[in-house]
Amino acid sequence: MRILRALLLAVSAIASGVIAQDSAGVPKEKHDYQSDVARLRKIVINSLYSHRDVFLRELISNANDALEKLRLTSLTDKEVLSGAEDLNVTIKAYTDEDGNGRIIIRDTGIGMTPEELTANLGTLAKSGTTEFLARAESTDTTGTGNLIGAFGLGFYSSFLVANRVYVASLAAKSAHNPEPVQYVFSSGADESSFEIYSDPRGSTLGRGTEITLVLKPDAVEYTNPHKITELVDKHSSFSSAFPIYLYTQRTEQVPIDEDRSSSEDPKAAIEDIDEDEAIIEDISDDTEEEKAPETKSVTVEEWIHMNSQPPIWMRDPKSVSEEEYKSFYQATFKDYEEPVAWHHFSGDSGSGVSFKAIIYVPSHLDDSYWQNPLTSSSRDIRLMVKRVFITSDLGEDALPKWANWVKVVVDAEDLPLNVSRETLQSTRFLKQLRSIILKHILQMLAHIAEEDSEKWEQVQKVFGNVFKLGAVEDTKNREKLVGLTRFATNQRNSTSLDEYLGNRKKGQKQIFYLADMGSKPEILAKSVFIEKLHARGYEVLLLTEPLDEIFVQNLRMHKRVPFQDVAKAGLRFGDEDVSPEEEKEEEKALTEQYKPLLDWLKEEVKEVVRDVIISNRLVTSSCAVVADMMGYTANVEKMMSASQSGPKSPMHEFAKKQRIMEINPRSPLIQGLLRRVEQLPTEEEGRDLEAEEELKEVASVLIDGALVRSGFNVPDSNEFFTIIDRVLRRSLGVSETAPTDTTVKPAPPVDSEPLNLQDPLDVEWPDYVPGSLRQPDSPFQHEEQLFWDVEEIDEEGNPVKKLHRASEHDEL
Ligand SMILES: *[C@@H]1O[C@H](CO)[C@@H](O)[C@H](O)[C@H]1NC(C)=O
Ligand SMILES: *[C@@H]1O[C@H](CO)[C@@H](O)[C@H](O)[C@H]1NC(C)=O
Ligand SMILES: *[C@@H]1O[C@H](CO)[C@@H](O)[C@H](O)[C@H]1NC(C)=O
Repeated sequence: MRILRALLLAVSAIASGVIAQDSAGVPKEKHDYQSDVARLRKIVINSLYSHRDVFLRELISNANDALEKLRLTSLTDKEVLSGAEDLNVTIKAYTDEDGNGRIIIRDTGIGMTPEELTANLGTLAKSGTTEFLARAESTDTTGTGNLIGAFGLGFYSSFLVANRVYVASLAAKSAHNPEPVQYVFSSGADESSFEIYSDPRGSTLGRGTEITLVLKPDAVEYTNPHKITELVDKHSSFSSAFPIYLYTQRTEQVPIDEDRSSSEDPKAAIEDIDEDEAIIEDISDDTEEEKAPETKSVTVEEWIHMNSQPPIWMRDPKSVSEEEYKSFYQATFKDYEEPVAWHHFSGDSGSGVSFKAIIYVPSHLDDSYWQNPLTSSSRDIRLMVKRVFITSDLGEDALPKWANWVKVVVDAEDLPLNVSRETLQSTRFLKQLRSIILKHILQMLAHIAEEDSEKWEQVQKVFGNVFKLGAVEDTKNREKLVGLTRFATNQRNSTSLDEYLGNRKKGQKQIFYLADMGSKPEILAKSVFIEKLHARGYEVLLLTEPLDEIFVQNLRMHKRVPFQDVAKAGLRFGDEDVSPEEEKEEEKALTEQYKPLLDWLKEEVKEVVRDVIISNRLVTSSCAVVADMMGYTANVEKMMSASQSGPKSPMHEFAKKQRIMEINPRSPLIQGLLRRVEQLPTEEEGRDLEAEEELKEVASVLIDGALVRSGFNVPDSNEFFTIIDRVLRRSLGVSETAPTDTTVKPAPPVDSEPLNLQDPLDVEWPDYVPGSLRQPDSPFQHEEQLFWDVEEIDEEGNPVKKLHRASEHDEL
């Protein structure tokens, strides 16, 4: 960083000639801002105040875009360069004699016609603006900061520091604009309209755009060159291949009689510095130091090149600091959150194109990432040829969906400068670039997984589902992508499939999993389906992420070990003490023993399940409902019935045919039930209808409870709870038939008074003082949520409002 020794003098003659705002007598066109712009400006001004430094970064970024556009155009049309050969950004800042601060930022980029000034600065043409506004109005300020950049609306951040902004612009000369004229856009921070007029100074710019900020009194600090240098260093100096110059002045004491050249600052010899000198005044303050040679003060004007280093991607990675990588990322990809990781490398595409690249892993996915799961287009691979930006749109299938969140800067040495996106498609370079990028992403991620568990957790949170998608979608890289996937289990929060297999028990020939989309692993861990596995120490993957089940169904196996849904039939531990034949024998014996109960239950629950069998997976639970091996689990059924509901729908009928009820022969409840069923008198002995009815209810509760615990829907939840109510009464010895007192206080008659809109609820709200959300005396000081609730009726029958503190036990 360059330390400025400059002493900035207030010299009003700094601005070249007349300044843009001296425009009395010039005819002006007045335009109203499009209503969205007015809203946007308000949001920017109100919510970004504490981040107002951003204005400089945003304006430099816009200048850079204009320069890139010009350079790209100049590849095919040399004429656009006429008027200003050098491509640069210059910044001047000063305080005028009235103490008004001004900053003038100028670029020699593509420039704007008056129509473009109106369209670009007065309307929001960008799609997604409405979404932006909606989000910006509901987010905190840091969020807005990110959004502003992301939506390319940075110009409006000028109004954070300026009362008035003038934008003078002269469009590049071209075939369809052979004689461009310099125009000015002018607007005050509080105005709902702006003016457009031809610049009274004439076409002074040569080409490009000049933004003059008339600073607010409290923003005068931004005229300090140290401040500007600091901000540019921090946010902008690496992003641009174009030079950014800052105008400075300093006074020097030079011996009066010596040759001027000997007094030159050594820094002035540094490349790209213009030097102008002007003698301001003589100071011969020699009364004290008699021996000192006579000197005079000289004001030296300098353009300081603020980004004299080559752009970051061209440098040796060893010479680039972490801070620089982060700032470069943020400025280039307009993402003001820090990247998670990056990789800077150079290589050869294999077809003779050598290149340098930096690839970044962002800390978040765009909101739209999952909205269009099938389209895959990346706008974040910035392709440059010999530092000249060519395109960031490499087309629809530049990268597979799973990778198209990656942000890349790539600079190819050996491509022709006039290469276009269309001609690129036909070169082999793109294909090779694609596989190189993918290879490096995978390496980077694998490296994080191994080396940095904290960062890896962050990556999993954001990209966990992306890797699962990738493993399904990208068969070529499947193995590596599977290696990046992580799953919760009943034994740990996160495991890879390899680690899972490392923990498999002797004889285990299946990867056990249980899926319930949208559930939580902690809840799934208590499921009846994994009772026995858990009790015996087997590990079971608990799949709760949307893509988990698709993942296992597509992969079907890992390292040739098949996945086994523990909610489906076919579960084998692999260490069964008995041979399958013996097991069958044992099962046969149990089935024989329980035959009366099984037959009876089958009849009772035939509306809900296809069969009732003896279970080998239950430990403490008395029963469960499982899907047949090929059938639908509760999870899938839930998904499908969302679109096709109704208890008699074909879907429901189909699902029923796949379900099996398993009972646990070791459960005392089941054993008791068996005894009671065996004791039921037969037809000949004279049926005991009351006892039968009671047992029927038990069966009904049993099957419905099993359905619920297994994640299925109860056919009729009202009926379910009515029966539970009866069973509970019986166990408490309460009359089963005594009705509940259902008399209620009727509502008062219709209110014929008009609504008092001032105070519609007539509730005593706590005093609210603007600017303080939490009054010391208001109930809102408490951390809990508080509700107003009608709780009591007073003597006259009026409801009394009582404050009610929500607790976690409350149903919301
Ligand atoms: C910036 O470019 C313009 C025109 O291309 C040129 O006249 C000017 O001297 C340059 N500024 C600096 C500081 O080099
Ligand atoms: C690019 O420029 C080269 C020479 O510089 C020329 O031969 C080639 O035809 C140009 N290609 C395109 C697409 O304009
Ligand atoms: C697993 O996650 C739970 C809840 O998120 C946490 O409390 C626990 O500490 C984690 N355990 C391990 C071993 O990381």
